[in-house]
Order: sequence, then structure tokens, then C-alpha cells
Amino acid sequence: MDRIVRAWAPASLSNLGPGFDALGLALEGVGDLVEASWFDGQGVRVKVGRGESLPLDPDRNTAARAAMTLLGSAGDRGIDLVIHKGIQPGSGLGSSAASSVAAAWAVARLMRETVAKEDLVNAVLDGESAVSGSRHGDNVLPSLFGGMVLVTPNEPSRYRAVSVGAPMFLAIIRPDIRILTREARAILPASVPLSDAVRNAATLAFLIDALRCGDLETAGVMMERDLLVEPVRARLVPPYDAVRNAARDAGALGCALSGSGPAMFALTGDADAAERTRAAMEWACRAAGVGCASFTSTPDPHGARDARPDDPRVEA
Ligand code: HSE
Repeated sequence: MDRIVRAWAPASLSNLGPGFDALGLALEGVGDLVEASWFDGQGVRVKVGRGESLPLDPDRNTAARAAMTLLGSAGDRGIDLVIHKGIQPGSGLGSSAASSVAAAWAVARLMRETVAKEDLVNAVLDGESAVSGSRHGDNVLPSLFGGMVLVTPNEPSRYRAVSVGAPMFLAIIRPDIRILTREARAILPASVPLSDAVRNAATLAFLIDALRCGDLETAGVMMERDLLVEPVRARLVPPYDAVRNAARDAGALGCALSGSGPAMFALTGDADAAERTRAAMEWACRAAGVGCASFTSTPDPHGARDARPDDPRVEA
């Protein structure tokens, strides 16, 4: 019998405030698992092993699209994928990205023993575009490489790791609201005032520098200063203000939407502060009449890899 390759890829925070389509961070302990195996035939077939119903049409399924790019027109064998969701779709935590990345890793490992992650970048960007309609890399690249990644939005093959100079502890809340990235992109303005664009550019530059220096206090301030995207999308998340105020009151260094939301994250400086902030954010969200899930995390330094038996199976 042909072997089955099992791959795991982490969830991710993206944008981190002012870094729309440019900045993302892989999260420890939350992710998707994808199994890949050969079948005699052509193309890519998808099943969902655990999780919500996903589009199974290979053109609209992120994992299938990534697999098809890697498979190309080579050979007369096809690929079976089984997706086990650990991240809820439409959460803002890089759910489609993690499936795309885990599928790419699994398929590449099926095709060859040694895989260079750089060779998977094109495939995972294709996977992201199947769901969001855009080849942005700020979720797929952190999920692939681990850690924090800075990527050029209109040239996603240009990217680099951002090494953060202090340990980050994160509190994350996922309100029970579903936001499709494609729709959350469609509501954004086509153009913005030059003065706002200039201020955002400076804010992102300060954010990156502060992260690299380990100055998390400044980083937290900068994460809250996006002028271009977050103010528009905050309207899609009714408890946004309550959650952000609760995070601040609990002592968080900064709080922002993750990606297109509704997930929000808060940056803190230690594990106790992260837990205190998580509890405060969850309480505020529920008090605003919206159910939610919440958890704490730290950056995942590894990104995509062969799945391990102890990989987390709890849905985030
Ligand atoms: N940068 C993307 C966005 C992330 O905010 O639309 C979601 O995939």
C-alpha cells in the first residue's frame, strides 16, 4: 500500500495592525493537519476528515489548489487529500493558509524525501488565492516558515523573517462571527488620503524596528495605530471596542484585529499577563452579547512540518 504523509501547519496572526498584507506571525499550538496519498488517476481529490464543511471543488479549495500547483502536469497519478481542521474557517487566524501550507508540505514530501520550503512559496500563494481571491503572503508564509515574516504585498516572492528581540505572549479571542476574507477585502477603500498612507508607513517602520529591538511596549502602541484598514473592518466586529478596552485595562501592550477578523489578539510581555488579558477579553466579548472562544499562545518558530502524534487537535 502507498504511504500516507501527514503534515501540520500552524495558524497565524496577520496584519498586526499597520502591516496589511505585509506582516504575519505563526502561532504555537493551533493548526491544521493534512494527509496526502497517491491514487491511480489524475488530479486532486479532497475529503474533510474533521471540521466544518469546506468547498471540495479543487478550484475553490485552498489545499487542493496548492497541491495542484505542485503536482503540475507530471505523471499519471493523482493525489488524495484529507483535511483535518484545527482552525475555524472565517476566523481571521489563517485557517485557509494553514490548510494550503499543510497540503503543500504533505504533497511535496510524498513526491520527494527532502523538501526546501522556498520551493513551496508559489504553491501556497496559489492556495491562498483560491479562497481569498488574492495572492497575499502574510498568512501562508509565516505558516510555512514559522516565526514572523515580512512580505512585499505586490511581490510576495520577496519576503524575509523578522527576528523578534523579546519573547511574545499573546492573548487571542475568536468571537462567534464569521467573516469571509474575500468580503472583508471588498469593503476596503480603493484609495486613501496621502497623509494617512504616510503615517501608516512610519507606523509600520516603527513597529518592525521595535519588534527587532525587543521593545514590545512601542510595538504594542504601533499595533493599535493602523489608519487604513482596521477602522473599516472594526465595524464588522460589534464587540471590537469592548474587547480592545478590556485588553488595555488588563495591561496588554497593544490589541488589534487579526487579518480580516473577527479574531483579535493582544500582545503582552509574560504568560500571566497573557492569561489575565485573555480572560478579560473573553468576558468583555460575552458581556457585549457575542459568544467566543479564546486562548493564549506564543510564536511558533517551526512552521510546516511532518505531523507529530501529539499535535494539537482542539479546534481554535
Ligand atoms: N492580509 C489579509 C487581509 C489577511 O487582511 O485581508 C487575511 O487573509
